[in-house]
Amino acid sequence: MNVALHQDTHVPRSAVDSGLLQLVQHGLGLKDKRLPSWLFYDAEGSALFEQICAQPEYYLTGCELALMDEYAAEIAERLGPDVRLVEYGSGSGRKTRLLLQHLQAPVAYVPVEISEASLWASVERLAAEFPQLAIQPLRADFTKPLRMPVAPRAARRTVIYFPGSTIGNFAAREAVELLRKMRKEMGEGGGILVGVDLKKDAAVIEAAYNDRAGVTAQFTLNMLARLNRELGTDFDLSAFAHRARYNPMAGRVETQLVSRREQRVRVGRLRIGFLAGEPIEVEYSCKYSLADFAALAAKAGLAVEQAWTDARHMFSVQHLVRANCAPA
Ligand code: TRP
Repeated sequence: MNVALHQDTHVPRSAVDSGLLQLVQHGLGLKDKRLPSWLFYDAEGSALFEQICAQPEYYLTGCELALMDEYAAEIAERLGPDVRLVEYGSGSGRKTRLLLQHLQAPVAYVPVEISEASLWASVERLAAEFPQLAIQPLRADFTKPLRMPVAPRAARRTVIYFPGSTIGNFAAREAVELLRKMRKEMGEGGGILVGVDLKKDAAVIEAAYNDRAGVTAQFTLNMLARLNRELGTDFDLSAFAHRARYNPMAGRVETQLVSRREQRVRVGRLRIGFLAGEPIEVEYSCKYSLADFAALAAKAGLAVEQAWTDARHMFSVQHLVRANCAPA
């Protein structure tokens, strides 16, 4: 038993009401400690993530942007006219912009984002650039069933855009579940445009999650800083280390926060014990071969209609449709 009650503590009411405290206590109470990766993305974390994307080792963003730059016109042609574009999660909007520039008469753009601030930031950016476009922001958790806004006019098809290899942050079973949900939401003639990072040399992958400037380390440690800010926990940031290793058997990067020494941390009324070297699991980033991902999609009743990859086979952008609707 490494959890003990602790009496005098000051947890902000809002944190208790939102269930954040219970969630953190639960995750750190498990035998194998873990915290959900969405906790990375407060305002600081989102800003740090933008910085990660600009690091030379983090090839994912550069590769995906280059792919979109080269193929956006072809992709838009594939998707056809009068598309309703639904985006899961909002980033800097650079890839979305490339797509929107080439889509023919898009019916609406529906960004789906859980963070109010990120949602409005992305709406503002794109509204300025596409004044004709109907933007229908939806503040929601994209892993839950969505209440889609009514489109301003009938769309030919709904396409769900899910860039950034965020699909890789879900374990295989959850990824299949999420793809099934998207399949339902896009409807009969709909499609999914998904960015998927590919399997490659382990050293290249590991470097991407251990940049030399240390931005990724700062980003993962910010999760603990955030808990200190929002829950009044007393994590000593110098007593935890960022660790990201590629597990070739599982085909994924496993990111952890490792306790540098034996210590106790106050989390609400609990004191959580850590052994020296004990990890908190915070993120998986799954990597796929084209065949792996096609098999995953098939489990969700989807077929890869086309996959665009770069010459070095670093990254892919894939168009999925319902398996029974794939054109001959
Ligand atoms: N979706 C990104 C990825 O898996 C998120 C990310 C980048 C990340 N670097 C990270 C998550 C470091 C945790 C730790 O590539």
